[in-house]
Amino acid sequence: MSDWLNALPKAELHLHLEGTLEPELLFALAERNKVALPWGDVETLRKAYAFNNLQEFLDLYYAGADVLRTEQDFYDLTWAYLQKCKEQNVIHVEPFFDPQTHTDRGIPFEVVLRGIQGALKDGEKQLGIGYGLILSFLRHLSEEEAFKTLEQAMPFRDAFVAVGLDSSEVGHPPSKFQRVFDRARAEGFLTVAHAGEEGPPEYIWEALDLLKIERIDHGVRAIEDERLMQRIIDEQIPLTVCPLSNIKLRVFDHMRDHNILQMLERGVKVTVNSDDPAYFGGYVNENFQAMREHLGMTEAQAKRLAQNSLDARLVK
Ligand code: ADE
Ligand code: ZN
Repeated sequence: MSDWLNALPKAELHLHLEGTLEPELLFALAERNKVALPWGDVETLRKAYAFNNLQEFLDLYYAGADVLRTEQDFYDLTWAYLQKCKEQNVIHVEPFFDPQTHTDRGIPFEVVLRGIQGALKDGEKQLGIGYGLILSFLRHLSEEEAFKTLEQAMPFRDAFVAVGLDSSEVGHPPSKFQRVFDRARAEGFLTVAHAGEEGPPEYIWEALDLLKIERIDHGVRAIEDERLMQRIIDEQIPLTVCPLSNIKLRVFDHMRDHNILQMLERGVKVTVNSDDPAYFGGYVNENFQAMREHLGMTEAQAKRLAQNSLDARLVK
């Protein structure tokens, strides 16, 4: 990794905490919690990280999250991620977590939240990393289940800066969650949503118009709709783009085909993020490095991308 890329101060705005579960920690937590795993060892698990699409990844990601059981597990997961941030000069994070992945397995909402929040607070004090936590609804589940999750969050209202929307995109448009996002905004939450990763530009329009989002997570398919491109440029709506994720999940065939720099040069407020770094081959700096190697990203472009990430924070 080149020193100047590493030294660039940056924020990470698209990161699923469950997606930072490295195979070594996954095996350690399985042992601690006496969870039987379908993979014999770390290497076998790593070999399973070959995906043809988002759903194949999600199936493995939800299976892996089963080892997370106690407050300490969620603390350890979050703390390991924050240490990576410190190494890579990520000075601010706005991570997602998926409460339903855990509450549906019988883990209480507050156990998950206390572990994550404890590590984020320690990270701010000990590592100087600022943060804002985002509660993300699983879009393959029902609107009613999302409402139930929002209710569970209300006693801890101040722990969150925003709600988000993730999981299987196609067939689950933002409009399915319009009412729950209305309620969340009425309660003072900001909103973000995954849109235009595998789903069509129409989902990005819905996320903007119906969910009134502050940022678009992914959004790379916006390039297929010129009117949408004009809007996100005119309104400077940030896109949290995840290059290595997009290659691993076959949104683009190869990094040299990725449109992130094309978007940047057109004036879109794009940022660089790792999404699920344990599964996709790297953290923020590995994403920058891949863009340098395969897209010829210049130092000036890297600086603009890093500055965009700081400008697009929800918590300033
Ligand atoms: N959950 C974790 N990573 C995701 C992604 N890239 N898209 C949708 N849901 C996710
Ligand atoms: Zn994501």
